[in-house]
Amino acid sequence: MDSLDAWPEPVVAVQSLAEAGIETIPKNYIKPESERPSLTDVSSPNTLQIPVIDLGGLAEGVVECRATMKAISDACRDWGFFQVVNHGVSVELMSKMKEIWRAFFHLPMDQKQSYANSPTTYEGYGSRLGVDKDSILDWGDYFYLHLLPFAIKNPNKWPSLPSSIRETIEEYGSEVVKLCELLMKVMSLSLGLDVGDFQEAFGGEEVGACMRVNYYPKCPQPELTLGLSPHSDPGGLTVLLPDHHVQGLQVRKAGSWVTVQPFPNSFIVNIGDQIQVLSNAVYKSVEHRVIVNAEVERISIAFFYNPKSDLPVGPARQLITPDRPPLYRSMTFNEYRLYIRKKGPRGKTQVESLKAA
Ligand code: OGA
Ligand code: NI
Repeated sequence: MDSLDAWPEPVVAVQSLAEAGIETIPKNYIKPESERPSLTDVSSPNTLQIPVIDLGGLAEGVVECRATMKAISDACRDWGFFQVVNHGVSVELMSKMKEIWRAFFHLPMDQKQSYANSPTTYEGYGSRLGVDKDSILDWGDYFYLHLLPFAIKNPNKWPSLPSSIRETIEEYGSEVVKLCELLMKVMSLSLGLDVGDFQEAFGGEEVGACMRVNYYPKCPQPELTLGLSPHSDPGGLTVLLPDHHVQGLQVRKAGSWVTVQPFPNSFIVNIGDQIQVLSNAVYKSVEHRVIVNAEVERISIAFFYNPKSDLPVGPARQLITPDRPPLYRSMTFNEYRLYIRKKGPRGKTQVESLKAA
């Protein structure tokens, strides 16, 4: 199970199952009963929702806007998730990004398969997460690529079709990086740290960034499976461009699952494990999962902003007090992400296992 050289079984694109018109899903996608979504509470709109935060007050350089900072800080403590509007990324670019990726996933299978990935770097077109043989799989495919650091960015591993997809990814990536830099400043200040402390703890200009474009095909038996099993994101900060017309993301709140209703033109932001560690658990990464449906496919684009991969990350010095000793030991992100790469999504078990003795 430890080898990341190759997948333990041939990888089947979920899309090819869905498009074959099967009426029942294969056994290896059926979750144990306790892990299945209960689709009944999804159709009734949840009254409880993750906060929607307007970033308009944070004009360039004015990151100290107190009300916004407080809203973000509260959301990071209470939910680990929030939506942002007036985030500075062009709405046209957001739509273009979703449409171009939708077109990619509608290319013939052999063209997509020419980008088939391996668990060594995960870059490319794939379906499974984790290399455990005989594990129960999720109902989704994805395309994974690296944007930062510049040295490992390799656009030749990105799709070349539809035409202009590479330029669109580049443009989108640089806009979303700016948003992440802004959020890092606000989070740092909101914890009483200096404005640049979070960024510095992540390696300054040498941070990592990668993207996973998720494609969840229609599913004939959505009550038996999940598009993505419960997990917290291993990295720093995630900026998710959701499908604004199709719900699917659910966030864990006090033991139940809240279905996120995407706000028009918003991004969904969440804290990853690295910020939980850096903030000494003042801010928490929160478990989330994805449900699928029988009527319509869903696309989402997850942008992961991560620490420089060989830099140990541990609790910030300023957040360690006699009453609150360091809760975690330090680890590099290279080492940290091996866990999800080997085992696949497993709730919050990984960050829990980092707890200092
Ligand atoms: C992820 C993720 C949510 C979604 O890619 O890590 O949680 O809505 N995606 O696809
Ligand atoms: Ni996630």
